Amino acid sequence: MTETDRTIETLLAQGGHFIDPGTGAIVPPIHPSTTYARDERYELIGYEYSRSGNPTCAQVEEVLARLEGAEEALVFASGLAGIVTFFDTVRSGEHVVAPRVMYHGAADWLRRLAGRRGIGVTFFDAAAAPGAARALEAAVRPGETSVVWIEASVNPTWDVIDVRAAAEIAHAGGAVLGVDATVTPAVTLRALDLGADVVFHSGTKYLAGHSDVTAGVLATRRADARWEDVKLARTLMGGVLGPFESWLLLRGMRTLHVRYERQAENAMAIARHFDSHPKLEAVLYPGLESHPGHAVAKRQMTNGFGAMLSLLVAGDAEDAKRVATRTRLFVPATSLGGVESLIEHRATVEGPHSVVPQNLLRVSVGIENAVELIADLEQALG
Ligand SMILES: Cc1ncc(COP(=O)(O)O)c(C=O)c1O
Repeated sequence: MTETDRTIETLLAQGGHFIDPGTGAIVPPIHPSTTYARDERYELIGYEYSRSGNPTCAQVEEVLARLEGAEEALVFASGLAGIVTFFDTVRSGEHVVAPRVMYHGAADWLRRLAGRRGIGVTFFDAAAAPGAARALEAAVRPGETSVVWIEASVNPTWDVIDVRAAAEIAHAGGAVLGVDATVTPAVTLRALDLGADVVFHSGTKYLAGHSDVTAGVLATRRADARWEDVKLARTLMGGVLGPFESWLLLRGMRTLHVRYERQAENAMAIARHFDSHPKLEAVLYPGLESHPGHAVAKRQMTNGFGAMLSLLVAGDAEDAKRVATRTRLFVPATSLGGVESLIEHRATVEGPHSVVPQNLLRVSVGIENAVELIADLEQALG
């Protein structure tokens, strides 16, 4: 284990090593106050108004910035609130590049921007090996593309994009690289170290980890003009994370490292067991040596291949849905990253515009006993 890993483990476990100077408490308080007093000179004592920032948000933002190796981090009321706020900084006439298969909510937002704001959007094929670099290169318009937005492992086919190569291509074209690292948090993939300018997380998933907080995170390598614009946009659009949710997010992050390792171990056991299963067309998991993105994933993921995988059921949408309704341990529900295992028929959840195969079941692996999880999927497939 490297020094960096140790630092992250300790940083997370101790929630930033908080000790309240007044009381000695090792868990930070929640500050619900929406407004903040001024002193006798009418200067602000600390904060002003909670929509522009509050001490509980700042607490988790500081730990997030250290976790990512970022200059600053911001938390949002949801992942999508973070994405929408970030893309608000793109001006009409500019061009954005993103993968064709990606988190569908972000893709929907980009299409909406394109239609309403005169922003050009090109979707590229992340399945193009190696690491999607050539397809990305062809999509970037030098001087016009201002943002390249990728997922290191695209949701829900888990094709792998080479983050370092993507950063080089984006920068050569004069664009910034934003990485949605929701399923590849910094305990395994350090997007900013790999060259990304901005890293994003749906904090709803692994960071919080217990399916009880909706949150978003952006962290930046440099607090540059675009970042100042993002900060202003958060205040003006109002998508800030509430104090209680900020507190819960920090609490959840204390166990991120161990949760993620266990979840990735379980996912690997499941992927290996069901690889070549007669009832499946394929298991999509970057940890399998047979996965086309395995070599790139191995290079850029330093602590396991994550806990998301998809099963292509031998059959059609109805066959796949039948499997998802027969499980007894896997909960048939959307979302991911919690300690409990979930299974979903992704095309149903994404709706009529979905480009996801109809026989695909997306699986979010939790921290349960792997043998029981495997037995549950076996009986559901049987
Ligand atoms: C990869 C990815 N990005 C972004 C989001 C959006 O996050 P939220 O649901 O917290 O708004 C999700 C949610 O599922 C996601 O899986």
